[in-house]
Amino acid sequence: SLIPVILSGGAGTRLWPLSRQSHPKPFLQLPDGETLLQKTLQRALALPDVHHFITVTNREYYFQTRDVYQPVLNQAEQRAAFFVLEPVGRNTAPAIAAAALQAEALIGPEAILLVLPADHLVQNQAAFAQAVERARRLAEQGYLVTFGIHPAWPETGYGYIEAGDTLEAAGTPLGFAVRRFVEKPDSDTAAAFLAQGDYTWNSGMFCFRADAYLSALERYEPQLYHDTRSAWAEGRCESDFRELAPGFAQVPDISVDYAVMEKAEQVAVVPGDFGWSDIGSWTAFGALLPDGVDGNRVLGDTVLEDAQNCIVHSSDRLTALLGVEELIIVDTPDALLIARKDRDQDVKRIVTELKRRG
Ligand code: GDD
Ligand code: MG
Repeated sequence: SLIPVILSGGAGTRLWPLSRQSHPKPFLQLPDGETLLQKTLQRALALPDVHHFITVTNREYYFQTRDVYQPVLNQAEQRAAFFVLEPVGRNTAPAIAAAALQAEALIGPEAILLVLPADHLVQNQAAFAQAVERARRLAEQGYLVTFGIHPAWPETGYGYIEAGDTLEAAGTPLGFAVRRFVEKPDSDTAAAFLAQGDYTWNSGMFCFRADAYLSALERYEPQLYHDTRSAWAEGRCESDFRELAPGFAQVPDISVDYAVMEKAEQVAVVPGDFGWSDIGSWTAFGALLPDGVDGNRVLGDTVLEDAQNCIVHSSDRLTALLGVEELIIVDTPDALLIARKDRDQDVKRIVTELKRRG
């Protein structure tokens, strides 16, 4: 069986002011009324052979997460839901380790995990399911499997994967051995990777046996591995959740990409064209809104006069634009963002500044 591991943690600072500490990106409602978290859950449950799934999230989001899940799950699925609760987020390497330990306890060391960030969008479920099936078969052979996305621009916020030899089972190609995994290169390096052509973006989803991940982690980040194991073992376990012990706060803060994927030997990539997006910016979010007059994309009550190529998201009151272009305007009850579209990646700087002010 396949165990989806839903990672629901990060704040999504580039979607401020809609995405907040108290209302992070997985809870963000898309134009169709569904949240990214709900969509992730539905995507996971639609896969064949799923009997359990694990959600790793901060304990503060436990009830909010259950509220999102509840209307989506039937009774059997309610019972299949298990939560690993973090006292504080320590990034993805420890979060996935805690899920892997939990999966070993629930199923056994051979449990196959499918790690799914709770804030991604996948538009083509059939193509996704096909890629997952290939990944599952490689994971059974002991590979740490990544999903490669055809890169569209030299993004510096992603990991890059260089594909090597074809990997197959019984004559069917499943994916490629990974020659090199480079997390968040600088822009010159990213541009060189695109020019070279053998590179895909790392989607941030992974598939591996629980024991394969844990032994790689133990090898490359022994401290992190042992600290996480203790926090898991000393955690408080109830029927449907385990709350990691307070010692989890001392685990090194490292992502799975740096901790394991850049270093490990048996890494594979399954390329997939399934309409993946991590909605990492207002421009990406805007692309989900209906394509309106003059290239404007709008959600909420809006009047546009001579406005072009703007993204507008307003909640409670009327927004009017006159004679402006290429702007992002996001209005919420307690904060208003006005930004030039080409600065969409810098929205996180506002969050940094707000944190500094306290
Ligand atoms: N439970 C939990 N705890 N979840 C976490 C934590 C944590 O401490 N930290 C991050 N997450 C979740 C986030 O909510 C997100 O869904 C996912 O894990 C990935 O974390 P990000 O912080 O968004 O990673 P990134 O965007 O910098 O980079 C990753 O994703 C890219 C694609 O979107 C990497 O895997 C890159 O290689 C990849 O290209
Ligand atoms: Mg991300």
